[in-house]
Parts: sequence; C-alpha cells; structure tokens
Amino acid sequence: MLFRSLATTLFFVVPAFAASAADWRSRSIYQVVIDRFATANDSASPCDPKARKYCGGTWQGLINHLDYIQNIGFDAVWISPVSANIEEETAYGDAYHGYWTRDLNVLNPKFGTPGDLKSLSSALHDRDMYLMVDVLVNHYAATPTNISDKIPQSFDFSSLTPFTSVNDFHPQCFITDNSNQTEVEQCWLGDASLPLLDIDTENPTNFEMLRNWIQDLVLEYHIDGLRISAARYIRQSFWRDFTGAAGVFAMGEILSDNVSYTSDYTQVLDAVLDYPTWFTMTDAFSDTNGNFDSLMSTVIESQEKYASGLCMTGSFVENYDQPRFPSFTKDESLIKNAVTWPFIHDGIPIVYYGQEQGFQGGAVPSNHEPLWSSYYRVYQKPLVQHMTNLNAVRKLAINSKQDFLTTQMTFIPQSNDNVIAVSKPPLLALLTNAGNSSTATWTIPEDAGLFLKGQTLIDVLTCQPYNVDPVTGSLTVESRYGLPQVILLARYLDSKGTLCTGAAQNGARRITIDHLLVSGVATFVGLIATFHSFI
Ligand SMILES: *[C@@H]1O[C@H](CO)[C@@H](O)[C@H](O)[C@H]1NC(C)=O
Ligand SMILES: *[C@@H]1O[C@H](CO)[C@@H](O)[C@H](O)[C@H]1NC(C)=O
Ligand SMILES: *[C@@H]1O[C@H](CO)[C@@H](O)[C@H](O)[C@H]1NC(C)=O
Ligand SMILES: *[C@@H]1O[C@H](CO)[C@@H](O)[C@H](O)[C@H]1NC(C)=O
Ligand SMILES: *[C@@H]1O[C@H](CO)[C@@H](O)[C@H](O)[C@H]1NC(C)=O
Repeated sequence: MLFRSLATTLFFVVPAFAASAADWRSRSIYQVVIDRFATANDSASPCDPKARKYCGGTWQGLINHLDYIQNIGFDAVWISPVSANIEEETAYGDAYHGYWTRDLNVLNPKFGTPGDLKSLSSALHDRDMYLMVDVLVNHYAATPTNISDKIPQSFDFSSLTPFTSVNDFHPQCFITDNSNQTEVEQCWLGDASLPLLDIDTENPTNFEMLRNWIQDLVLEYHIDGLRISAARYIRQSFWRDFTGAAGVFAMGEILSDNVSYTSDYTQVLDAVLDYPTWFTMTDAFSDTNGNFDSLMSTVIESQEKYASGLCMTGSFVENYDQPRFPSFTKDESLIKNAVTWPFIHDGIPIVYYGQEQGFQGGAVPSNHEPLWSSYYRVYQKPLVQHMTNLNAVRKLAINSKQDFLTTQMTFIPQSNDNVIAVSKPPLLALLTNAGNSSTATWTIPEDAGLFLKGQTLIDVLTCQPYNVDPVTGSLTVESRYGLPQVILLARYLDSKGTLCTGAAQNGARRITIDHLLVSGVATFVGLIATFHSFI
C-alpha cells in the first residue's frame, strides 16, 4: 500500500503488481501451458501430446513471443504452475503440465530459472500486461514404486517439501463420491498408480506455511493474480485467509455445472471460472440443434446467485482440462459463434493458447498441442483476426461506457430457436447455431430500448452497416453462413482505431443513403472473402 502510493506520487509509476479484482475486470486473459507454448530458442522440439512427455517450452520462450499475444489484444497471461514437480515418469506420463507438486519452495527447473520467471514478470509489466500464476495447494503427487502397495506405508514422505511427514496429509482414501463434500475435502484425488496426497489444510501449522509460501511467491515474482486449481477440494473458509495473504486477485476453479454449488465460492474468492455456463454454452453452440434456453437460464441464475453477478467470473470456451471446441464440431461458423461468447459476456474473457490457431485436440492430453507447430502464424488465421476484433470492440466498449463492465448482460427474446440476442450496451451480440449453410435472422424491436429510429449501426466483425428502421424503430439483421455479429452504433467507431476504420470515416461524414449502399456492397464482397478464407 505504502510503496504503491509513494511510487505513484514520487515517480509517477504504478507498480503493476498487487492488482485487485477491479483492476482485473477490464483485462483479457491468454492461458498458457508453459511446456507447450514456446521453446527458449524456438527449436521445433518434437512433441506428441499423446506421449505425455516434456516438450521443452520455457518461461523464456513465452517472453520471446509476447508480441504474438499482445497483438491479438490480450493484456494478461495465465501460466501453468511454477513449482517443482515429481520427475519420475508415472502411469500418466510426465508432470509437464505442472500439477504434480513435489516441492513448493523450488521452481520447476524444466521451465527456467528464478531469474527467468522474474524476467517474464517484468517483460509483461513493461507492456502493461498482467501475470497470473496457476497455483495448487490441495495436494502433492506421489509415484509409488509398487502400485499394489498402500500409501503411505511404502511412500517416502521426506522426498516432499515443505510437508515431509505422513501427518501433514489427510489419511488415505480416494474420492469416489463427488457429491459428498466431506469426502471431496478430506479424501484424495488420483488413484493407486498416481496418488495425489491431500494436504491437511485444517492443520494450523500447514495453513501458516501455505500462507507464507503464497505471500513470498507473489512478492518475489511480482505476480498480479492467481488462478487457484482444485479450489473445491479445500474447505471454503481456507480461501479468504489464503488469498488475503496473497494480496492479489484470485480466481478459483470449481469444476461443476451446479450454479448453487459454485456460487458459494464466490463468497470467499474474488472470482470463479464460469464452469456452469461453459457446459450449457458448449452444448448450445456445438450443434445446430443446441439449446439456447438452458444457456440463458444458467446465465440468469448465475447473475442472481453469484456475489458479483457474472461480472467476477472467468469466461472461457477452452482450457487445458477440457476437449477443444473444434473437437466437437468442424463447422467454422459454430466455432466463431462460440469464440465470441466470452468477449460479450459479463466476465473476464479467457482464451486457451492454440484456440486462436483453431487447434482441434480432444480430451487430455490431446488438447496440449505444441503451439510451435503453428509457427505462431497470424496471416490467414480467421480466429486470430476474429479474436483481435473481439478484444478491440470490448476495449472500445469499456472506454466508451463507464459502467460497461458492471452492467449485466440481458437477452432480447427472439422468435427463432437457433439465434440469441445478447445486449450489453453499447454492444449487441447476435449469435446463432444455425451453422455454416444457413442464414440466421434476428429482430430487435423498438421497445427493447437499445436504439433510436434511423440510427446507423455497424457489425464490427464484417463492417456491415445496418439502419434502424426509421418508421418502426426496429432492427432486423440477417447473417448468411450463420456467422456471429457484434453490433454497435457507428458513431462509437474511431476512424483512427483498428475496427472498420472505413466505416468510421463514413460515419463521421454523416453518410448518405448512396454511400451506405456502396459500402454495403463492398462489405458483402468482404464477407464472402472472409468466409472463403477459413475453408
Ligand atoms: C535450442 O535449445 C535446445 C534445448 O536447450 C538445444 O538442444 C538446441 O541445440 C538449441 N538449438 C539451437 C539452434 O541453438
Ligand atoms: C508389490 O506389492 C505386492 C503386495 O505387497 C507384492 O505381492 C508384489 O510382489 C509387489 N511387486 C513388486 C514388483 O514388488
Ligand atoms: C461422506 O464422506 C465421509 C468421509 O468419507 C463419510 O464419513 C460419510 O459417511 C459420507 N457421508 C455420506 C452421506 O455418505
Ligand atoms: C447443487 O448444489 C447445491 C448446493 O451445494 C446442492 O444442495 C444440490 O443438491 C446440488 N444439485 C445437484 C443436482 O447436484
Ligand atoms: C460446415 O459445416 C459442416 C458440418 O455441419 C462441416 O462439415 C464443414 O466443414 C463446414 N464448413 C465450414 C467452412 O465451416
């Protein structure tokens, strides 16, 4: 606190660390599995995700490619866990993902040195980007030499740090009933071939050690935020103190589709990952028969039950734990609609590395592809362009309207089952699961209260202009090929900005009907070009 205000007044710089929930709300997060993002010298290390081996990605590799991430418009990076992991090969391969802790006090040497992690942190801060680190304090990993042996008898606890005694862990029992919360918190994840030793987090000495550890880690590496893995496996009362000690924004992973369940954790953590909506969103957009009613009802229920509505959630389409969206459908239009969702949602958008490249890996470990196989190419990558536009329009909305980030999104009822209209002023997102061979139609009546008669609007994804009907005041939008639209008043566009600058200039000149027709034809040709480029 003191340091911050001193620095602000004396040197006119605000240190980027100690970022609060409010600081994070406007951010857009790119999630990285360090081992798979970039090697330090860009050598194209061979990497078959199915082999579950280390592939050679490092913190230095990430530093080298921050331009790639920043150019798409992300201003925060979430990295996989940094602590030393077990080094033995297990029945489930190597610990390349970082979730099999052996020693909390030492960094994973596979990813670089402490100096490298500090360099990553300062490289991000130099760009006004935030560093989010994934942390796991529920368990350690053990590799029994004889899988039929019972842990702990055969296990050498002294190989772990700083918890070195059998008494530092809950007695062995594997979780079999996920609906029994006592069991979820007291028993173990994993199985006999890879037991995940559950730390006794009720023990005050252990609790103190974990608090000190997180405090030191955040300060040492100037971490701006935490992503807390497996948060539902530790009692809720643990989290407030733990994240208080960390002193930075903390977003928890509560893997559940039950809003009542996940909402409890919004009382003790700054934010949770929006898993319940992820389930219904995935169903809604992965199939032309998907159901928008359950998506809308999950959103509304979450807005009602969560401590800050959905505004303090991480919204995502993909992550390291779930099959990639294009493993559910090959329809590029459905994919583009799904990808749009987190950016027009109340929460903080999160994109999982490789999503922008259209990676298609299914369940773990196939969804851990090496990004270097894409050569970090951005040219003719439709999802890269799509996300760049989405980040830009979200920033524009944040800068244009003070309460954009705290105003909850609403749905404007539609008569077709295969469309959804999401209003989050100044944005109107028109999404559909009609698919690439259909035309989708939305109608926004005047009494929705969004626009005035005759106003000119632009879809920033295609630069297609629309006019609100000057007589009825309603807006009708058609989208060929079932593509999503993100619409706002043309006057919000800046001719010096990055979005539809031609249209912005026209808007500034108060376009005549003639101009409109001409630019409409031009955009239509552009639209076809866009469509063909992703085939
Ligand atoms: C790149 O780094 C790897 C791993 O450290 C090393 O094996 C390889 O020789 C390096 N390649 C070049 C061209 O320096
Ligand atoms: C593993 O443990 C079981 C039970 O203790 C024992 O019967 C078996 O011989 C052991 N196997 C090896 C390879 O040590
Ligand atoms: C829940 O799990 C605990 C710990 O394993 C067990 O003692 C208890 O009986 C379980 N409760 C129910 C209702 O099954
Ligand atoms: C959802 O979670 C609530 C609160 O934990 C619980 O009472 C309820 O039984 C759960 N519902 C289902 C369907 O699991
Ligand atoms: C259109 O969707 C179908 C599946 O419905 C898919 O097979 C095809 O590849 C898609 N084409 C494009 C360009 O998305």
